[in-house]
Amino acid sequence: MKRVLVTGGAGFIGSNFVQYMLSNKENIELLVNLDALTYAGNLENLTAVQNDKRYKFVKSDIRKKEIVEKLFCEYDFDTVVHFAAESHVDRSIEEPELFLTTNIVGTQTLLDAAKRHWKIHPNDKYSRDYRDGVKYLQVSTDEVYGALGETGMFTETTPLSPNSPYSASKASADLIVRAYHETYGMPVNITRCSNNYGPYQFPEKLIPLMIHNAINDKALPVYGDGMQIRDWLHVSDHCYAIAKVLEEGKIGEVYNIGGNNEKANIEIVRLILAELGKPESLITYVKDRPGHDRRYAIDNKKITTELGWAPIYTFEQGVKETIKWYLENMEWVKRITTGDYMNYYKSMYENI
Ligand code: NAD
Ligand code: TYD
Repeated sequence: MKRVLVTGGAGFIGSNFVQYMLSNKENIELLVNLDALTYAGNLENLTAVQNDKRYKFVKSDIRKKEIVEKLFCEYDFDTVVHFAAESHVDRSIEEPELFLTTNIVGTQTLLDAAKRHWKIHPNDKYSRDYRDGVKYLQVSTDEVYGALGETGMFTETTPLSPNSPYSASKASADLIVRAYHETYGMPVNITRCSNNYGPYQFPEKLIPLMIHNAINDKALPVYGDGMQIRDWLHVSDHCYAIAKVLEEGKIGEVYNIGGNNEKANIEIVRLILAELGKPESLITYVKDRPGHDRRYAIDNKKITTELGWAPIYTFEQGVKETIKWYLENMEWVKRITTGDYMNYYKSMYENI
């Protein structure tokens, strides 16, 4: 039976993951969701599990060492899945310091608490027997590899070359996780996934922002020429991949996660408009993002061949379902797009 700490479980991917684990994994005895409830965290995403006896929510910041250590003592976790992060590139350009403290120092705080609680010492390196099944899983991103040209794909051995404060903070965290494995023998995995989409995504990221604006007949702000390429994956396929790595991933290994689904931004924007029956005249080209990565693409050979994972969703089906979800959950969207969101939106997109 597993005692799992999920950080950032009230965010987009974390809340999908908490629901996925509690409805698919019978070996979960306890799942604690530690989340600071920043603008991106929303307990409404978790109403389906709030009465589940195995589930517990703790509102706190991963950087608060004493609280994190106390939670380990109280709940005796054997598994950590670390999602909590500042996750939006545009915000990282405005406020890099927050990204560095949350994403780097927050990761180190968790690693230290797990290391202490699991009694992991340097002397145990390579001799430690992991039969007791403890594991720390770092949820990372393909953005740590930087940008690709027109050809090639990111493999797990592609050198880290991050270009934004966000991706630099995630790459730094990955290096710390790696160092704790190499130095102390900490049992870790790192997963690096491509861009996710699906239900509960905050409407600051491309797909939900475009759906939200199209529904409301507002301009769709496309950065630069709109020809930047991302490799899209449905969030439930990401959750399935993380569960696979937790259960079967080889200790110390990195696994890239992606669904071989490269699309230019403008293609996606057009697809959303067509699905919603809205005119292309809503498309508005705006100033490009500084340091904008041109193309991401994941080589998923390692996870597909070694762990037998494969995505279930096609992009067309996934986007249709996601649009339907946003149409059916307009109240959810309305509640999170007031106040702070309006200020953010105004400062980001003031000229359109
Ligand atoms: P998100 O922004 O939707 O959610 C982040 C969550 O972390 C929120 O619930 C927030 O309240 C919480 N949080 C932030 N700072 C915290 C702190 N100091 N202490 C405790 N909780 C805090 O992010 P997401 O899109 O769900 O991404 C989750 C993880 O997956 C991140 O680590 C991100 O880097 C990674 N990732 C995201 C994508 C993507 O496409 N969204 C792709 C690959 C990897
Ligand atoms: P985003 O969803 O922010 O993810 P990331 O930057 O982490 O890949 O953006 C996806 C792509 O969409 C990226 O190339 C930037 C572009 N984009 C726009 O063109 N307009 C927008 O309003 C946003 C939010 C993103």
